[in-house]
Amino acid sequence: MDTRPIGVFDSGLGGLTAVRQLLRQLPHEDIVYFGDTGRVPYGNRSPQTIRRYARQDCAFLREQGVKLIIAACGTVSSTALSVLEEQPLPAFGVVEPAADAAVRATRSGRIGVLGTAATIRSRAFEQRILSRDPSLQVVQAACPLFVPLAENGWTDREDPIPRLTAARYLAPLKEAGVDTLILGCTHFPLLTDILSDYMGQKVTLIDSGREAAAECARLLGQADLLSPAQGEGRCRFFVTDRPDDFTHVAERFLGRAIGDELQTIELDSLTGGR
Ligand code: DGL
Repeated sequence: MDTRPIGVFDSGLGGLTAVRQLLRQLPHEDIVYFGDTGRVPYGNRSPQTIRRYARQDCAFLREQGVKLIIAACGTVSSTALSVLEEQPLPAFGVVEPAADAAVRATRSGRIGVLGTAATIRSRAFEQRILSRDPSLQVVQAACPLFVPLAENGWTDREDPIPRLTAARYLAPLKEAGVDTLILGCTHFPLLTDILSDYMGQKVTLIDSGREAAAECARLLGQADLLSPAQGEGRCRFFVTDRPDDFTHVAERFLGRAIGDELQTIELDSLTGGR
């Protein structure tokens, strides 16, 4: 048993989709969330910058006394794996759990991967999938416009704008006959209806936050690090800025109000960057 909180970080508020999954799967755990809202987005930055930010984000969570770190951010998970591996406590991202779930799910052997430009450029999902089974075929697509659409709440399945955007991005994947699609970015679960309508009901969508939460439950159980099953866990949220419409955007990702356990911290106070 271990009552220390689980640490989750992301470039901004999108990682709250992973917290939503943790709350479902591990309701008794305390959670500390760090969203780098002062520097979001990470998805169009260089690998060096993403690694430096990830190092600082992890250092902040360690200072909060967490027992494990989840990088909910697809961009960090795919570009800064070395930073996660150098942590002195269990730390992992979404690439491995989501890629492994896709390998288990596919029947046709053709898997699609969606992410930010940095995520797709890294080829991290593809490498993980092929390391599991080199006979699989992976088709990737960078979908940067899904990020502002999700943040602005333009996710209604009847709305022609996200539908057309999805059709433009996904056409090559549909053509390639993928039967499994990894949503390799925090924001994309909000577009599930639209993605599913376009790809068809037979295509399995893999929510990377849900798979990361399942991996967290597995790891904590295995290492006997779960909190005792008493009452609801406490969630604390830390951000580096509170931009316009912050509360609504946070609610969209978390699926409920963020509440008053929210603190803004100074970017200058972050340590651990190199
Ligand atoms: N959180 C990022 C991801 O999952 C999306 C937003 C960004 O570009 O920072 O890749």
